[in-house]
Amino acid sequence: MLKLTSVALLSLLAPGGGALASTLTGLISSGCATDGPVSCQNTTAVSNTCCFEYPGGQILQTQFWDTDVAGSPADSWTIHGLWPDNCDGTYEEDCDPSRDYTNITDLLTSQGATSTLDYMEDYWLNDDGTAQELWAHEWATHGTCYSTLEPSCLPSGSPAGAEAVAFFETVVRVFKTLPTYTWLADAGITPDDGATYELSDVLGALESGSGGYTPAVSCDDDALSAISWYFNLQGSVIDGTFIQIDATDDSSCPSSGIKYPPKESSDSDGSSRRRRGAHRRSSHRGRGMKARSEL
Ligand SMILES: *[C@@H]1O[C@H](CO)[C@@H](O)[C@H](O)[C@H]1NC(C)=O
Ligand SMILES: *[C@@H]1O[C@H](CO)[C@@H](O)[C@H](O)[C@H]1NC(C)=O
Repeated sequence: MLKLTSVALLSLLAPGGGALASTLTGLISSGCATDGPVSCQNTTAVSNTCCFEYPGGQILQTQFWDTDVAGSPADSWTIHGLWPDNCDGTYEEDCDPSRDYTNITDLLTSQGATSTLDYMEDYWLNDDGTAQELWAHEWATHGTCYSTLEPSCLPSGSPAGAEAVAFFETVVRVFKTLPTYTWLADAGITPDDGATYELSDVLGALESGSGGYTPAVSCDDDALSAISWYFNLQGSVIDGTFIQIDATDDSSCPSSGIKYPPKESSDSDGSSRRRRGAHRRSSHRGRGMKARSEL
C-alpha cells in the first residue's frame, strides 16, 4: 500500500511523466525536440530515427497477473516489458546480439539507477527463473530493437550500456502510469476465487481508469493473466512522451466467466512456478493476437 501511494504521488508531481524522470533519474538525455513527429502518426517520411521511433513505433507496455511468484505484490500487476511493434502490428526481435547485456543489476547500479533497480526488484518478477534473467531477456529481445536507443544516438561519452539503463528507467516510468490493479479495484473488480467477471466490465473499468483507452487483456484457462497497453511515442525512448492509443489487438479472454484469482502466499513452492513457466513459453498470446515468443 505504501508503495502504491508513493507511485500516485509521483504521478501527481509529474503530470507529463517525462520531465520528472529526466530530472530525478535520467542519466542521459536525448536532446530531441519535444514537439517532433509522433511514431506511427507521421504524415511524411522522417529520417532522424534517433528522435522518431522507427520501425517499432507502436509500443506495448505489457503486464502480468502472476499468482504464483514468491514475494509478488498482492495489490499490483507486475511488469512484463515494453515491446516495439511496427505500425502494422508485425514486429522485430533480437535486433543486436552484440548488446545482449546480462548483468543488469550491475549495469543499473554502476550507472546510478538504483531507485529504478529497487522498483524492478518489487514489480518486475519472473515466474520461471530469476528476475534478472527476465530483465536481460526483455532487453535482448525487445530493447535492442528501438531505433532511438541505438548507441550512435546517445550523447558522446555515454558509458557502455547507457541505452539499456535508459530502457529500464523508461519501462518503469511508463508502468507507473498504468495501475491496472487499482483501476480494476476502483470498479469493484478484485481478485476473488469465488467471483467471475464479464469482459465488458473489465475493459470498461480499464477504459475508465486510463481516461478512455482500451487495452488488450489475456486469459489463461479463463483467468486474467496478462494485459497490453498501447502507445505511440513522440521523441526518444530515453525521455520522450508516450502517447496512449487503443489496443490494435483484441483481448483473448471469454466474454463472461472470467476468473481473477488472488495471488498465492509467498510460501508457494517452486514446482508450480516451473509448471506455469513451461506453459507460458509454449503458449501464444491468444485469439486475435499474434503469437510471440513469450518472456
Ligand atoms: C513515416 O516515417 C517512416 C520513416 O521515415 C516512413 O517510412 C513512412 O512512410 C512515414 N509515413 C508516412 C505516412 O509518410
Ligand atoms: C553481476 O555483477 C556483480 C558486481 O560486479 C557481481 O557481484 C555479480 O556476481 C554479477 N552477477 C552475475 C549473474 O554475473
